[in-house]
Amino acid sequence: MEGEKNSLNIILDSIADGVFTVDKEWRITSFNRSAERITGFSRSEAIGQYCYEIFRTNVCLEQCALRETMETKQNIINKELNILDKYNQEIPVSISTAVLRDKRGKIIGGVETFRDLSLIKELDKEIHEKYSFQDIISKHPSIISIFRILPDIARSEATVLIQGKSGTGKELFAQAIHNLSPRRERPLVKVNCGALPETLLESELFGYRKGAFTDAKRDKPGRFQLAEGGTIFLDEIGDIPPGIQAKLLRVLEGKEFEPLGGTTTLKADVRIVTATNKDLSKLVKQNQFRDDLFYRLNVVKVELPSLSKRRTDIPLLIEHFIVKFNKKMGKEIKGVSEEVMNILMNYAYPGNIRELENIIEHAFILCKGTHILKGHLPRYLHELETAGPEKKSIQKLEEEHIIHTLHTCGGNLAKAAEELGIHRTTLWRKLKRIGVS
Ligand SMILES: Nc1ncnc2c1ncn2[C@@H]1O[C@H](COP(=O)(O)OP(=O)(O)OP(=O)(O)O)[C@@H](O)[C@H]1O
Ligand SMILES: [Mg+2]
Repeated sequence: MEGEKNSLNIILDSIADGVFTVDKEWRITSFNRSAERITGFSRSEAIGQYCYEIFRTNVCLEQCALRETMETKQNIINKELNILDKYNQEIPVSISTAVLRDKRGKIIGGVETFRDLSLIKELDKEIHEKYSFQDIISKHPSIISIFRILPDIARSEATVLIQGKSGTGKELFAQAIHNLSPRRERPLVKVNCGALPETLLESELFGYRKGAFTDAKRDKPGRFQLAEGGTIFLDEIGDIPPGIQAKLLRVLEGKEFEPLGGTTTLKADVRIVTATNKDLSKLVKQNQFRDDLFYRLNVVKVELPSLSKRRTDIPLLIEHFIVKFNKKMGKEIKGVSEEVMNILMNYAYPGNIRELENIIEHAFILCKGTHILKGHLPRYLHELETAGPEKKSIQKLEEEHIIHTLHTCGGNLAKAAEELGIHRTTLWRKLKRIGVS
């Protein structure tokens, strides 16, 4: 019996996790070496004391895990909490609990194991700091090098052109440039140049004078005036029509413009940041975009790679969005299952980071537990094969694209076919091959 107890102690002392046991009166009956190391209390100090005097957690009163286990007979696994060590230093730990029974199965107490998470948390923080800047998360070399020059870009008055596909973070970067610039106290005014017809866009940007047209009952300032002293962010710059391109060029060259129907010239002290998901140099070649304007806009170019070209960012972004939605929805989701990580690592993301963010948000609404599982993902991700991206055939990528498009079109075949640029019967044939009805 003594020998048995001795060898048990040797085993307990050799493991890296802290372990202690209590009797039914909550008095500590054993305390291993790692428990001594993590808490700072020696075994002789701990044994015989009430557990809450030695293992002082931030939840002892309201939700003692050991009490819960003793009452429900259910083990608790990897619950994260903080304890105070002997020197009142807060230490993050992950605990697990179980009941202790004697040979006849009678409950005689409980056992709690705990793992020191300080190092992990510190590393986490370090990685987070290293790979994030102004709410932008990335460890991709091309983006890290943008992080490095972003403060200099922001401080300068240079016009910036941000190029990237939909959802790659163009607006996020525009905001960061403004926030880091000396103009940060003044407004950042955003204009989506692709959303308005020509005449509206022109009056939106430059304003108009009373009487400029029938409905112009009074002067209306344009966005350039509203952005005075600050920054104007011209989104979808590739969409602006030729007439406005000329006017914009004047602002860039002479820092001045005229409102519609006006005779006076206004000064514009405005920093211009633009974004596009099109290849502007190509538009220049096709004579759809003035080359002189292009050179003026293209002083500093920031190119944002698509998410499929920076897959190592996916886990970081998933974590980032989990933290974000936990805060927003008051949940305590810890992560995604291995299967989900596999799916998310291999998906093509035509909608880039915004799409990943939407996927996580969708999963958050369905997830009731601590981890996001496959069933919480949007349906169109369920069918994806989880092979490595290199192994994926063109056919597979096409299938994914078709399924995704169909999903975004709400299952409407005609719409999806149009979006995909193929005939409806072709789409129907392809769907039959994939096995989607
Ligand atoms: N690197 C990143 N780290 C964290 N969040 C990001 C990152 N990139 C984008 N996001 C988030 O993804 C979403 C889309 O980003 P944003 O609106 O800046 O993209 P966009 O390129 O302007 O898209 P669109 O072309 O559709 O206008 C936002 O919610 C943004 O916060
Ligand atoms: Mg945008």
